[in-house]
Amino acid sequence: MGTKRENVGILAMELYVPSQYVDQTELEKFDNVSAGKYTTGLGQQKMAFCSDREDINSICLTVLQRLIERNNLNLHDIGRLEVGTETIIDKSKSVKTFLMSLFEKEGATDIEGIDTTNACYGGTAALFNAINWVESSSWDGRNAIVIAGDVAVYNKGPARPTGGAGAVAMLIGPDAPLVFDCGVRASYMRHVFDFYKPDLSSEFPYLDGKLSIECYLSALDNCYNLFCKKMQKVDTNFKGLLSLDGMLFHTPYCKLVQKSLARLCFNDFLNASKEVREKNFSGLLEFSNHKREETYFDRDLEKAFMKHSQDLFNEKTKPSLHVATNIGNMYTASLYGGLASYLISKSPDQLIGKKFALFSYGSGLASTMYSINICKDMSVGSKLEKLINSLHESVSMLDKRHVVEPSKFSELMDIRTKNYHTAPYEPSGSLDSLFPGTYYLVKIDDQRRRTYDRRL
Ligand code: ACO
Repeated sequence: MGTKRENVGILAMELYVPSQYVDQTELEKFDNVSAGKYTTGLGQQKMAFCSDREDINSICLTVLQRLIERNNLNLHDIGRLEVGTETIIDKSKSVKTFLMSLFEKEGATDIEGIDTTNACYGGTAALFNAINWVESSSWDGRNAIVIAGDVAVYNKGPARPTGGAGAVAMLIGPDAPLVFDCGVRASYMRHVFDFYKPDLSSEFPYLDGKLSIECYLSALDNCYNLFCKKMQKVDTNFKGLLSLDGMLFHTPYCKLVQKSLARLCFNDFLNASKEVREKNFSGLLEFSNHKREETYFDRDLEKAFMKHSQDLFNEKTKPSLHVATNIGNMYTASLYGGLASYLISKSPDQLIGKKFALFSYGSGLASTMYSINICKDMSVGSKLEKLINSLHESVSMLDKRHVVEPSKFSELMDIRTKNYHTAPYEPSGSLDSLFPGTYYLVKIDDQRRRTYDRRL
């Protein structure tokens, strides 16, 4: 391995999708809410979930194993392994250490990195750690792997349809087709109680849904304005949204993402001169004196900017929502499911030279907007093609899943809840329903030690 490090970024990617889902239209009926609330109102079609056979360690093992196999990785060439998750099942032992079981078999133990946690932001923090390591004086010439994964479950009630489950694995190193822009990351971090998990005996968060939306949107405003300022320092022609080929968001549910794109247009509108407003935003001038912080739930403003930004949304953001529409929120992996969706929506030729921004949000709160360029260097063209082809295969697993009735889903969720802290424990979830190659929980012993196996 060399010591040259240019174009540091994502070399390969893998997505893990659980094999079962519940249909959101059926869930509306089962939950006795008005038809369209989850599908039209939240923009969701299907929600992935796991039985008690899968936990955070097993889904991360599955996605890591697939990344290794599909890219024929020599594990001695990996120098760092990072995990971002908020699915905490052990207050001390990291998920990363469970993943080491795959490396140990090959005698590879010289591997830095552990877990990173802050709600849905942990995957991004893990990714930044890996990128920073490759760009640092500590780098020893090897690649890094980042895993972002979660089992996103909510208690019965209005938040339950915004759950989901899944994981993404990314291989990080130099000479990558997806390159991270340097010096323009824009972060916004605060202390708030919008969503948190203080009850370690439960999988469910404590949550103030409306506050979480307000926090998400205010973090978006702040990150976007700072990101534009930083970009303009390196490129005086940078014109925000109009200079980006794609705009990707953390996706708790798809409707919030469409609103977020409209929100960026509202920010562009507020930042524009009177002349530009009159030229580019005709019909919206009545909102000229509105203040950002007073408009998070202003439905007239939201509707007007959603209408105005419909074409921009279709072009720059909608292609990133395929996975989220069909899985739901994967918490730390959600933004990277968006990246996978965006990449497979185009051919490698259409992507070369394109720039897109990503907004990562984790409650509590931590947020960053950053940007990725698709490398113009033709020598990475085949890596890009391989990355996209392998993502097509992962995403095609969405169509191979089986649907589960809401009553059965609710039953399986009750089993997870009831046994969350039971030890010793042997899961009852079906093994046959798992995709071949999936890792699963075999048992938890009386010392709460978990053992796993892989479905052939
Ligand atoms: N047909 C069409 N639309 C409908 C219907 C219907 N029959 N019924 C309701 N709707 C619309 C509502 O008008 C609303 O749309 P709007 O927001 O554009 O006004 C939408 O469906 C949702 O309905 P609400 O009544 O607002 O839903 P509720 O308050 O019950 O729950 C919430 C929504 C707060 C998002 C809840 O699901 C939740 O708490 N989720 C988890 C928190 C979350 O995801 N926060 C986001 C950022 S933090 C994070 O990533 C975890």
